[in-house]
Amino acid sequence: MSLTIQKLNVAFGKEKILHDISLHIADGEFVSLLGASGCGKSTLLKSIAGLIEIESGVVKINGKDMSRTLPEKRRAVIVFQDLRLFPHMTVAKNIAFPMNIKKISKERQKETVDSLLAEVQLEGFGNRKVREMSGGQMQRVALARALAANPTLLLLDEPFSGLDGKLRLEMGELVRKLHRENRLTTILVTHDKQEALKYSDRIALMKSGRILQYDTPQNIFKRPASREVADYFGRMNYIRRGDWEIGVRPFDIRIIPTGKNCTVEEVVFMGETAEVRLNTPAGEVFCTAVSSELERMDITAGDKVGMEIKNEADCIRL
Ligand SMILES: Nc1ncnc2c1ncn2[C@@H]1O[C@H](COP(=O)(O)OP(=O)(O)O)[C@@H](O)[C@H]1O
Ligand SMILES: [Mg+2]
Repeated sequence: MSLTIQKLNVAFGKEKILHDISLHIADGEFVSLLGASGCGKSTLLKSIAGLIEIESGVVKINGKDMSRTLPEKRRAVIVFQDLRLFPHMTVAKNIAFPMNIKKISKERQKETVDSLLAEVQLEGFGNRKVREMSGGQMQRVALARALAANPTLLLLDEPFSGLDGKLRLEMGELVRKLHRENRLTTILVTHDKQEALKYSDRIALMKSGRILQYDTPQNIFKRPASREVADYFGRMNYIRRGDWEIGVRPFDIRIIPTGKNCTVEEVVFMGETAEVRLNTPAGEVFCTAVSSELERMDITAGDKVGMEIKNEADCIRL
């Protein structure tokens, strides 16, 4: 279902936490709330779910004003970072919990639990105690339990942040698969820009209780509305051109080995890519390239080179 937030303000005591947040999420969209710790992402999720009191503003689900509606009537379900499972209960009982509250028949519960176990790739684990499951498996149980509530909106509050590397990736892929299959309107809270870029239809970049930009991953990266947004998504070179400065990403700068007007200050190997810091007539410029390409050029600190902005580069006037 769709979600519309209009001029939402939230305060804790005298401290204002969310300032005039407006956001529209279409039915079936996958949106990320991205921003540093403390910027208000969890507070926004809780406001949507009805778990905290809002100062002013409107929260509409499917066009209906839900601002004063109880959480259980909104059916916007949050998967919290700490999961909040019942460790001594079985996996199946945990998943069935929201259906039990709604007094759904035992047969129907069992059917749903079985199909959800399959969806989150935990077939055969129904009778295990939650405390006997690994961290990644518990995440899957929490996800299945949220889906068992048949939510209108699925709200994920940094559910993978406790996981590392491969497991984190697997969980991300699972959430994406579930979203593709069910087309459930989903909001993912994350402070990982790569995760947001990879999974979202749109990203709301937040800072200090405000939304700086709400846009598709391509637009927010290639056409940032401000320097603040541009810098959030990685290093930017600001190069003066006449009356204005343009922003160019390090990958959009090419080194010309036969050139002479720049000095290589430093080459930093980072695995697949390497970063070159150049002293140019336009000031300090960073260039990122595939390591093997740079190795072929045989560039080291102190060398004289040239540089150019690639034709296909996104140059942003900022
Ligand atoms: N229950 C609360 N009482 C008072 N202040 C709170 C409460 N919950 C969160 N805050 C404050 O609100 C701000 C936003 O918090 P939060 O929404 O949790 O941020 P995020 O999820 O982006 O890390 C922080 O400054 C935090 O300290
Ligand atoms: Mg949070």
